[in-house]
Amino acid sequence: MRIVITGAAGFIGSHLTESLLDQGHSVVGIDNLLTGDMANVAHLIGRDFQFIKHDVTNYIHVEGPVDRVLHWASPASPIDYLELPIPTLKVGALGTHKALGLAKAKGARFIIASTRRSCASSTRTVPGCASMTGARFPTSSRRRCAART
Ligand SMILES: NC(=O)c1ccc[n+]([C@@H]2O[C@H](COP(=O)([O-])OP(=O)(O)OC[C@H]3O[C@@H](n4cnc5c(N)ncnc54)[C@H](O)[C@@H]3O)[C@@H](O)[C@H]2O)c1
Repeated sequence: MRIVITGAAGFIGSHLTESLLDQGHSVVGIDNLLTGDMANVAHLIGRDFQFIKHDVTNYIHVEGPVDRVLHWASPASPIDYLELPIPTLKVGALGTHKALGLAKAKGARFIIASTRRSCASSTRTVPGCASMTGARFPTSSRRRCAART
């Protein structure tokens, strides 16, 4: 399969890319290196791996067929997303919208990595819901955005 991974230069994305290449898949990794590092994927250059430096909150263009879009792009550690609340919110909403658009255009299956907190509550009284005003909201809102897009 030909698989697009957003956030490919991050912790999970880079390991997943290597694992998928080992299984014989072709991988297109997209990352703007906000919290990721080229060093995480440098050893994969030369394999069936294409790296595109791109901010996925903007239109995503990938040449050729795509079978899967794995949307992993987002600051993930609390240190990062507390320092970067707006970029985290943007990639969770706009980035998810653009990644879904790519999957739709290519007829690809879409898979998102997210927190288990998939809904939001202003009072946080609903079990499993994240606070809409708390510090975690920028990162916890993304799966909800995907579900509503
Ligand atoms: N690590 C965990 O324990 C954990 C737990 C639950 C969910 N997740 C989710 O898994 C995903 C990956 O987590 P990780 O630990 O590998 O994080 P990470 O910070 O190591 O990797 C995220 C990658 O996304 C990239 N990125 C951020 N914004 C971008 C943008 N606008 N355009 C393109 N690339 C962008 C970063 O540069 C980075 O390489 C995240 O979506 C995270 O929310 C991780």
